[in-house]
Parts: sequence; C-alpha cells; structure tokens
Amino acid sequence: MTRRAVVIGAGHYLPERIVENAEFEATLETSDEWIRSRSGIERRHFAAEGETTSNMATRAAEAALKAAGRSAADVDAIVVATSTADLTFPSAATMVQAQLGMTSGFAFDVQAVCAGFVYALANANALIASGQAERVLVIGAETFSRIMDWTDRSTCVLFGDGAGALLLEAQEGEGTSDDRGILATDLNSDGRYKDLLYVDGGVSTQNTGHLRMQGNQVFRHAVEKLAKTAHTALERAGVGTQDVDWIVPHQANIRIIQGTAKKMGLPMDKVVVTVQDHGNTSAASIPLALSVGAARGQIKPGDLLVTEAIGGGLAWGAVVLRW
Ligand code: UT7
Repeated sequence: MTRRAVVIGAGHYLPERIVENAEFEATLETSDEWIRSRSGIERRHFAAEGETTSNMATRAAEAALKAAGRSAADVDAIVVATSTADLTFPSAATMVQAQLGMTSGFAFDVQAVCAGFVYALANANALIASGQAERVLVIGAETFSRIMDWTDRSTCVLFGDGAGALLLEAQEGEGTSDDRGILATDLNSDGRYKDLLYVDGGVSTQNTGHLRMQGNQVFRHAVEKLAKTAHTALERAGVGTQDVDWIVPHQANIRIIQGTAKKMGLPMDKVVVTVQDHGNTSAASIPLALSVGAARGQIKPGDLLVTEAIGGGLAWGAVVLRW
C-alpha cells in the first residue's frame, strides 16, 4: 500500500471587478487586438481596494472545504503559494489560518512565483506521504495588480488577481499509476535567469517595486522547459502522454500553452484553458484552472492530469495526479 495525497475538494475566488482589454486603450498605446493575438488574454479580474491576497485565499479555501464536505477543524496544514502576501510577515498562510478560525495545525507560504502552486503541491504531497499531515489545504493566491507598472504596456496588460485552492487528504493506494492522488512531481530552478522576470524592489531595498519582464526571453524558455518537466513527471509516474486526460498548464499565454501541448503531442481539446478570462494570475492560475475545469465538467474523478508552470527565478516544474 502507498500513502497518496488525494484531491477531495477544489474551489476558487475571483475579485468582482473585471477589466476588459479595451480599458487599457484609454491610457496606453495598445489594443484589444494586440493583447488577444499575442497572449490570448481577453479580460482579467482586479482586487478591490483593501482586498488582499489572504482574503482571496480564504474565500477559495472555504469553497474547497465546502466542495469536500469538510470543515477547517479537519485541516492539519495550510500551504499558500504567493509572491504577493499581504505583509512582509507573517505568512499569508497563517493569516488564512486565522480567517478560517483554525487554532491548531501549521501554515506557511511557498514563494516560487508562477511555479509556486506546483512547488506548494509537491511540498504538501511530501507532508502527507511522510505522515506529517492527513489533510492539507494548498492554495495559490495573488494580487499582482499591486506590483504592476501601469505605464509599461509590455507587462501590465498580462496579469490578474485571484485565488484557487485544493484540499488534499491522505488515502491508501495500491502504489500503481491507477491510484487517485499525486503520482509524481518534478521541480527545477536556475537562478542565472533572474533578470528575465523579477520585481525591482523588496524589503532590503526599501520599496515594493514593480514587475519587470523580458517577455520574449521567458517565452523562449517556457515551451521547451515545460514540455520537458511534464515528460519527466509523467515518466516518474509510470505513465505516457497517451494516458493524459488533461494538461492543466500555468495560464500565462495561449501561445505557450499551445506550443507546449504540441511539443507533448497532445491536442488542445485535452487542455484546460482559462487565460482568456483570468490573464496571468501567477501562483493562482493552476488551482483556478483546476477548480474551473472541474466546475465546467471537463475534469472528472479518475482523470489523469499533468500540471506545469514556469516563472521568475527561473523556477519551473510539473505535477502528475489522478483527480
Ligand atoms: O507567468 C510567468 C511567465 N511569463 C510568461 O510566460 C510570459 C512570456 N511571454 C509572453 O507571453 C510574450 O512574450 C508577451 C505576450 C509578453 C509578448 O509577446 P511577444 O510576441 O513576445 O512580443 P515582444 O515582446 O517580442 O514584442 C513585440 C512588439 C514590441 O514592439 P517592437 O519592438 O517590435 O516595435 C513591443 O514593444 O510588441 C510591442 N508591445 C506591445 N504593443 C502593443 C509590447 N506590449 C505591447 C502592448 N500593446 N501591450
């Protein structure tokens, strides 16, 4: 028998305010047509004034708990993937813990930018596999609207805010790829690429800073590294691409999503796509896509999923799981 981390609930939260591409035409030399054709993004949600990452994470967590028929008292640990926590410290995760009314267990943040949710899932899986936790809430939540340079058309039109959450539970499997739950993970980073995607501020430089990205350079790395990490994770899980029901990719750019699917030899009707409605929500994009994909009826219990993401660091990785 093998202890597996099985998804028993998914949920998400999106801020009320929806901003269509055309809104940027008033202040920037850009167009709905450019944004749509170069990125696939049509609209994104922006958090309201005073709405924070931990607020949104809590709403997503509540939805995941409800979907699983569980309460916060059943949770042993909370892992929040974010690069935009409310405060420098404490972690957004401990703030979620308090907002859920939890007075036991433990909570911490994982910071791997857009790959954050993949890193958080791998960590939660390790906590469950090693017997340190029975149930873990894994959340991706971001307010990237707070770190945009609104005069930089090459970045500010691409990102959005939101949160998604999964509740993982320890269950016994047979130890085969037919088991439900996380079957394999693959994590990578290469800090030599820092200058391709970073925020030009932080605690030790005494300002919050703005996101800076050499988009076309990140793009070049993305397709190759994403297809490779997905293949590695699939191989570790003992399955092939032909077994995959859904790719649930990081939602940064439809052209990256299409290029990665093509490189993996899989058609686009096996890909969950939400980038048109959410933009790039960094660590929130995969759990948002998982929750929306399940709500749409695309992802069903027993389906084999591969998720993959790349972002600042560069940091990238993939998780193979059976829903
Ligand atoms: O989630 C973390 C990982 N991030 C990513 O995966 C993002 C990866 N990169 C991308 O998605 C794409 O590179 C972008 C969507 C950011 C840009 O698309 P691109 O096809 O790589 O365009 P580019 O950066 O090569 O720029 C092409 C042109 C430039 O003009 P010139 O130099 O050719 O005259 C830009 O100035 O498009 C211009 N441009 C714009 N034009 C209108 C850049 N942003 C805009 C804009 N509106 N918003």
